[in-house]
Amino acid sequence: MSAAPTEFDASPLRAGSPEHKQLLARFFFETHLEYDPERIAWPELSAEELRRLTGLPFWQEAVATENVTANTVTAAAVLESDPELRRAIALQGFEEQRHARLLAALTAHYRIPVALPAPYQPRNLENDFLFAGFGECFDSFFAFGLFALARESGFFPTALVAMFDPVMEEEVRHILFFVNWVTARRVALPWWKRPVFRLRCGWIILKQIAARVRTARSLGGEPPASGENFTLTAHQDIAAPVTLHGLLAQCLAENDRRMARYDARLLRPRLVPDIARVLYRILPASL
Ligand SMILES: [Fe+2]
Ligand SMILES: [Fe+2]
Repeated sequence: MSAAPTEFDASPLRAGSPEHKQLLARFFFETHLEYDPERIAWPELSAEELRRLTGLPFWQEAVATENVTANTVTAAAVLESDPELRRAIALQGFEEQRHARLLAALTAHYRIPVALPAPYQPRNLENDFLFAGFGECFDSFFAFGLFALARESGFFPTALVAMFDPVMEEEVRHILFFVNWVTARRVALPWWKRPVFRLRCGWIILKQIAARVRTARSLGGEPPASGENFTLTAHQDIAAPVTLHGLLAQCLAENDRRMARYDARLLRPRLVPDIARVLYRILPASL
């Protein structure tokens, strides 16, 4: 079987062609999952399990991140002129709002104190959407590995972990959709505007990398005051005895496994797995 294309490879489908856009929208609609966070029967937890869950330090940051992403993506549907792609972005907005609802339901049920932020208002719609999308490419990659660690460590009850599998799957779909959408958007521009668009994307990616480097440098020390990029440090909180090296291996394996389920004609996110692969090679296994 041939490997799936990346955002930089030649796809069997020309990115931005009517066929590519049609496939992109169709993949997104067909893989949409139905669930209602308000109807979830949350599992009963022992006192110890409840203590672990409420003790996780990233609830507030998770609520804040979903608020920004959900409101940005929902508003960003108007950026798209293709009606099917616009409907797909609106559906992604609905899914992000549902993540926020899921977090609200979980934290309310287990009485985890979080302050609900005021709904985020995007300032520059396209920049905010690009920032959120590239941010998700980083966060989701680490979330895939952390989720697998949480599942395998038995630190949380299986029933509770299983409830978040649909969220992981949605994040796979979101970043798949995003890299294909960005490529289609770039190629639709007149040739002389494309370098500026690339530069803008590069600048946004650099800002996301800089934020992660700050977090990585704090590993082993105090967590960053803002709690940003919590998926990078969360392995310290799920009691999995894992090195950064081991975490990268887990993230890479999970990323490959989850991406393999989707249409091979769609472009794959490559930048974050490539960075992770380089780090995996150069970092000592003991780190
Ligand atoms: Fe989300
Ligand atoms: Fe997402």
